[in-house]
Amino acid sequence: MITETTTNSIGNPKSAIRNGMWHGIIAHYGQYLPVTEATPRITLHEGNTPLIHAPRLAAEIAPDIELYLKFDGANPTGSFKDRGMTMAVSKAAEDGAKVAICASTGNTSASAAAYCAVAGIRCVVLLPRNAIALGKLAQALVQGATVLAVEGNFDDALRIVVQLSQTHPIALLNSLNPYRLEGQKTGAFEVCDFLGHAPDFHAIPVGNAGNITAYWKGYKEYHAEGRIEALPKMIGFQAAGAAPLVMGHGIDKPETVATAIRIGHPARGEEALQARDESGGLIGMVSDAEILKAQKQAAALTGVFGEPACAAPLAGLAKLSQEGYFREAREQLGRKPVLVSVVTGHGLKDPNTAIQIGGEPIVVPAEAEAVLQAMGL
Ligand code: F0G
Repeated sequence: MITETTTNSIGNPKSAIRNGMWHGIIAHYGQYLPVTEATPRITLHEGNTPLIHAPRLAAEIAPDIELYLKFDGANPTGSFKDRGMTMAVSKAAEDGAKVAICASTGNTSASAAAYCAVAGIRCVVLLPRNAIALGKLAQALVQGATVLAVEGNFDDALRIVVQLSQTHPIALLNSLNPYRLEGQKTGAFEVCDFLGHAPDFHAIPVGNAGNITAYWKGYKEYHAEGRIEALPKMIGFQAAGAAPLVMGHGIDKPETVATAIRIGHPARGEEALQARDESGGLIGMVSDAEILKAQKQAAALTGVFGEPACAAPLAGLAKLSQEGYFREAREQLGRKPVLVSVVTGHGLKDPNTAIQIGGEPIVVPAEAEAVLQAMGL
């Protein structure tokens, strides 16, 4: 549960929640973030996203766990990237940046464009040509970024923006920027504040591997502060066609329907493996068919409509549960283990995939009788 905080002395001396309203992760968690009073707050009031109990979905895919979904698609631009971007763009503004750049599979660019719009910083985004979900492309374009469609994949685009940020006065907004991880770790804080403890397992899709790294950092910091007693096991899932951390080597031509995680050379790969090993978790992979099945199941059994990437851990859980992976934890704990899976991006971002798995509407004449008939009544 988010409560009024009196310990947060940065930005909002008395409370991050003023008049019952949420003012973003820097306002709320500033004491855990590298900000000073000189740091401008570039915010869209991100964070404070719902942690939703999902018993109907658990009954279907993993009946031996207590499943919660952290719906980070409820952030202002529809993905978890906003947590990192409020920090990265605030620090870029503090440093006087005039131009910022990122490579993206879509969500980072949508978020970067939005926060740069708030700050008045010029935003340039490099996207792999023809490999971005429609909603994300629309966001970057409408929010005023210079959008460049690179004739290559995400890994090519990332290589270019890293090079340019090293040779020109351009702020890099990818998760190689440490402030991105600082912001994103607040997802772990919110999970713990809501539950009153850490989950037993934390499941998450893995692409460039920034978010799993950030969550693990957040859990470890809360643990070091004595705010939680135990740490979760980190369970990451990649798409089978883009699973370098599972295969143990880079993938030069990654392919998956989950375009958000279509990444062959993750920038934070080493740290993701460290999070896996330190926590005693795992990083696995699932097929595109499994991802699409889980995306639809999750939406229909929880009302939480995530984009395909978010279904990778859910598909993974189903497999783990079937294999008996959670049995030992259940016996040790004497109850079902609590597992939080992050729904990292909103399903509306990728309408083309959604329509493919959603099926066709039933066309009926404009008559009540016909509607009843179509309903099977
Ligand atoms: N889920 C969604 C919806 C994403 O957009 C991403 C990454 C991930 C999961 C994976 O997170 O990269 O930190 O391991 N999207 C990036 C982008 C790469 O450019 O929007 P990660």
